Amino acid sequence: MFDLQRARAAFPGLQSESVFFDAAGGSQLLGAALDAQALYARTSFVQLGASYPASCLAAERVAAGRAAMAELVGAGAASELVFGSSTTQLLANLALSAAFALAPGDEVVVTDIDHESNIGAWRRMAALRGATVRTWAIDRASVESGGAALSLDALDALLTPRTRIVAVTHCSNIFGALMPIAAIAERVHAAGARLVVDGVAYAPHRLVDVRACGADAYVFSTYKVYGPHLAVLWVRPDWAAQLAPINHEVLGQALPYKLEPGGVQHELVACLPAVRDYLAGLSGLPASTEVRARLADAFEQIAAHEATLAQRTLDFLNGRKGVRVIGPTTADPRVRVPTLSFVVEGVRSPDVVAAVDPTGVCIRHGEFYAGRIISALGLRAQGGVVRASMAHYATLAEVDRLIAALDAALPR
Ligand SMILES: Cc1ncc(COP(=O)(O)O)c(C=O)c1O
Repeated sequence: MFDLQRARAAFPGLQSESVFFDAAGGSQLLGAALDAQALYARTSFVQLGASYPASCLAAERVAAGRAAMAELVGAGAASELVFGSSTTQLLANLALSAAFALAPGDEVVVTDIDHESNIGAWRRMAALRGATVRTWAIDRASVESGGAALSLDALDALLTPRTRIVAVTHCSNIFGALMPIAAIAERVHAAGARLVVDGVAYAPHRLVDVRACGADAYVFSTYKVYGPHLAVLWVRPDWAAQLAPINHEVLGQALPYKLEPGGVQHELVACLPAVRDYLAGLSGLPASTEVRARLADAFEQIAAHEATLAQRTLDFLNGRKGVRVIGPTTADPRVRVPTLSFVVEGVRSPDVVAAVDPTGVCIRHGEFYAGRIISALGLRAQGGVVRASMAHYATLAEVDRLIAALDAALPR
């Protein structure tokens, strides 16, 4: 049984009157992660790689952080992971590295539903190498009827023997719909191409399994997964071996260093065991059970609790005159995560949020760096969508505060 009070107690920021429903922008930070960062800074804030004891301790802590993340995402080894300051930065690095193998006339497929970080990097790479960009466009009719945003038939029509890379999100950061990554991976691999998956909107809500999902590269930001301002990129070893280094030559041909120019913030990597341990600790399974099994159990509980939050919110939104939910109108955890967007007839989205702000319920409006989808859905004049995005530590009482605030703010 999901222990919500225990979860909430782990986040110092939740000792607040505010209701944080901007989790898709960034989650709260675990107190234990903050403590780990302070411990690192107090007792091992030195350079790695020397033989003196403090340097060895620092190296050990960073290695433990890398190993914790490998466990959290199901990587085969910590050396399959690359860290960076953000997902945007890591995708830019990956695209720069992959550009060396791209020839004029090669093709790259990007969507128009992704966050710009997983579109712009590939568009720039293609422009640099004279490659062709093909857009996997949103299925507008399907979104408007609450269905899937991307059609597999449309992907089939885009794939050719020249396709080298397909970049797609695991989950929409606007409306929380889950994408069928396994089915996409099958098609992309049958075409001989590589699949790059943006897991930023997925990883806070479901257990990531990089090897099983079919991606060739998988990336997300840890500051949305209860940890510090960092991001992590996994690359399938056979692709990693082919990628060109973008770091000092002396650092060689292997991950992580060849894709980690500038290095990483060591004190932040040192926080990551706290994130793994917190999530595994949400499981009801005995502490002696293998970590991945405890993580899987914990995320099942997270998904079930989050579905109750989404259900109550959607019951209100779906039933309110003049409100249109964007994307799935169901709370089914097989279909969506609790990242909920809507528009209100006759009221611009910034005005909805301005009316909610004084109540202490933190939501926001806009395009969330996914402007292409906002344009494709014709929502620009509306000021984008209103987005209420929840994490597993939210309560139904907080959802009721959101509903009361919206009830007062929206026209009847
Ligand atoms: C789906 C998605 N992808 C990528 C990003 C970019 O992440 P970062 O801020 O780490 O660059 C975001 C940020 O909101 C996002 O929601």
